[in-house]
Amino acid sequence: MTWSFQNFATLDALVDALSTRITAELAARLAQNEFASIALSGGTTPRPLYQRLAQTDLPWSRVQATVVDERWVDVRDPASNENLVRQSLINANASAAQFFSLKTGDETPQQGLSELNDRVGGLKAPIDVVVLGMGADGHTASWFPGAEGLAEALDPKSGQMVAAITAPKGGVAGAHLNRATLTLAAVERAGLITLMLVGEDKKAAWEQALQDGPVEDMPVRALLRSQQAHVEAFWTERKT
Ligand code: 6PG
Repeated sequence: MTWSFQNFATLDALVDALSTRITAELAARLAQNEFASIALSGGTTPRPLYQRLAQTDLPWSRVQATVVDERWVDVRDPASNENLVRQSLINANASAAQFFSLKTGDETPQQGLSELNDRVGGLKAPIDVVVLGMGADGHTASWFPGAEGLAEALDPKSGQMVAAITAPKGGVAGAHLNRATLTLAAVERAGLITLMLVGEDKKAAWEQALQDGPVEDMPVRALLRSQQAHVEAFWTERKT
């Protein structure tokens, strides 16, 4: 269980540092491998980071991108994480990046799971870079407290890269309870695991997650306690 926590005076300074960290990691991996892989979270926080990454000078046609998790909505829906990544990252210099969708045409993520695991199995593994967010409730990815499928998603012996989640009603998952998500097993093996946090509430959740207590209450603890993971947290109080 190792982690680092960097505090930035402004969102711009955080985006600068995190974009530089990610770009350097991808460049190092691409110097050694034909492809590099990156998994990107959705939500409201990472858009400025992705917009900055889109401007960086990498051989993006050799970068394989996916989302860390996906709301089970049409990929053209504004709530779709794929939509967010396509709009904010896969354009400009990064328009040539290969995108691996975490959505199928199935009614539910459970029905789409086999196809999703086959698809994500085509990514350069282990994933080189993961960009996580975290809710004030201590979830990351779609590992929501009290979710159906959480045990499978957090099973360290899982041979699966993707799990299906049904989040509890009334929680931070909002209207989008049905999710596909990378598993702990997929995330903890990543070369670089970053966590982008903005706001006082996220710092308080981070500090609480580091305390003793059940993983089920704050599932990000599963990653923070993983013997395989080193988590680099980037935080700023200011949303501008
Ligand atoms: C999602 C994300 C999720 C997100 C956290 C933080 O689908 O919502 O992948 O894990 O990272 O919920 O969201 P905010 O950045 O909106 O606070």
